[in-house]
Amino acid sequence: MALTGKEQETFDWGRVVDYSARYSHPRPQTQYELPGVTEEVHQAPCPAGGTHAGVPVAVVPLWHAMVTARLTVPPGDNQALRDAQRRLEAALAQVEELYPTSPAGILAQVAWGLPYFQRYLPKALVSEHIPKSTRPGREGEPALVEAVRFPRDPEDLVIEHNDVCFHFKSDFKGHIDDVVQALFYPGPSNLNGIGSPGVFIGDLFTVTSVRRGFAGRGMPRRVGMSLGIPGADKIPQGAMLFMGFTSSHVHGLAAGNLASYETVPGWTDATPTSYMAGGANMHVSHIAIELGRWYALAHPDRLHRMFHPRRNEPEEVLSPDQCPATSTFQAQRDEDASHFGLVGHNEQMQFLSRTETETTTAYGQKLPRGTTFFLRQDFDTVDNPFAFSADGPVSPLPRAGVHFIGIGPSAQQFELMRREMDSPGLAEKYHIPDENVGFTDFLVNTHRQNYCLPPRAHRSFPLAELL
Ligand code: HEM
Repeated sequence: MALTGKEQETFDWGRVVDYSARYSHPRPQTQYELPGVTEEVHQAPCPAGGTHAGVPVAVVPLWHAMVTARLTVPPGDNQALRDAQRRLEAALAQVEELYPTSPAGILAQVAWGLPYFQRYLPKALVSEHIPKSTRPGREGEPALVEAVRFPRDPEDLVIEHNDVCFHFKSDFKGHIDDVVQALFYPGPSNLNGIGSPGVFIGDLFTVTSVRRGFAGRGMPRRVGMSLGIPGADKIPQGAMLFMGFTSSHVHGLAAGNLASYETVPGWTDATPTSYMAGGANMHVSHIAIELGRWYALAHPDRLHRMFHPRRNEPEEVLSPDQCPATSTFQAQRDEDASHFGLVGHNEQMQFLSRTETETTTAYGQKLPRGTTFFLRQDFDTVDNPFAFSADGPVSPLPRAGVHFIGIGPSAQQFELMRREMDSPGLAEKYHIPDENVGFTDFLVNTHRQNYCLPPRAHRSFPLAELL
């Protein structure tokens, strides 16, 4: 097609030969939707009698790294903060120009901790733009509050106070290593083999930790066995995570923008026109897993603790169906507790992670009963507890664990759900022994922090442009 005079005038000769057009996934409003992630169908029957074909599973990126940091920008220097905002956005844009925004390239997310909002921004500005909880009993609280200690957390659990948390994901480990090096560390700065000194922003941050890991493709067994982690030889061949079962069921992960502050009614006062629309609460924790004890249990005992005690899939089924009709709500969970003296992880969560009635979102989408609006992006690790930490010791001894990342409408929603994993009241009422309360007895939490994961448009120093 011939170019008109106007187009010829405005044609940008600086942007020709566009390799990124080969991987043109639209970039969503949220940071947490992952362009380019594919799905596959696993074969397992629907216990609710549904006729759908198989169990859809998201094929999540293989390699992960998180970098947490404190800012070096002096609090009160608004110009310096706005400059930092511009530099970080420019650096991320540069990364996204040299790699596709997909698992084939790199997916980057930036989340901001309470200390950033408290130290760098006026109270009134934060109060105006951080959504507020509308949950009965917690109305008016900011949807971002400090993480709390849960009943079964160990005494020495650390509540962290980082300003910022970056999460990088890719199917190619080298992409993550190069991006982390180029952004945060002086020295070689190659993105996709191309010298990119301009992306160094390490002077803006003191890195407090680096956390590394993987998810999928038989990795936990392969990594666990090569490092001699007790119990690793019992991990099923194809398992994507240490505990064996698939945890990226499409039906168990919030679709589209369902995890945002404003989307599912009842959690916060955010609306589709709020500054933080498309943003969400993000909880980060490190959880060690007592793998040897877990695999000392027989298959049905693991299946029941992971899902619920009415499941009967055979051992080779790693991805039991999670379609909406399989959801367990509170009354059934209590019946299981009373009848079996055991509750599974999924049924502890689902009455708070799924819609209990047909629901219309703030965008007018109709959700059937049993639709999940909480999103997990956790990955397995052998960090003990981190690959690097400026704030505490790290051990070179590999330990099976999870860097847990949970994304949902508010810190209050996360607290409600996570408290259910410990269920002290339920356990007392139905005389449930510790090892029958989901799988919490097999986990050891070491660190926790809540973050605000802003929408993509405000991922760099949110609110700084309003100072
Ligand atoms: C070692 C730690 C953990 C492991 C291995 C784990 C594993 C799993 C697995 C296998 C499932 C079922 C499959 C699926 O729905 O995709 C599941 C569901 C779920 N998990 Fe976890 N989980 C862990 C920790 C947590 C934590 C700390 C939370 C947050 C409180 C959490 C929240 C959920 C939720 C909300 C669901 C159900 C989603 C739904 O069906 O609506 N998990 N988890």
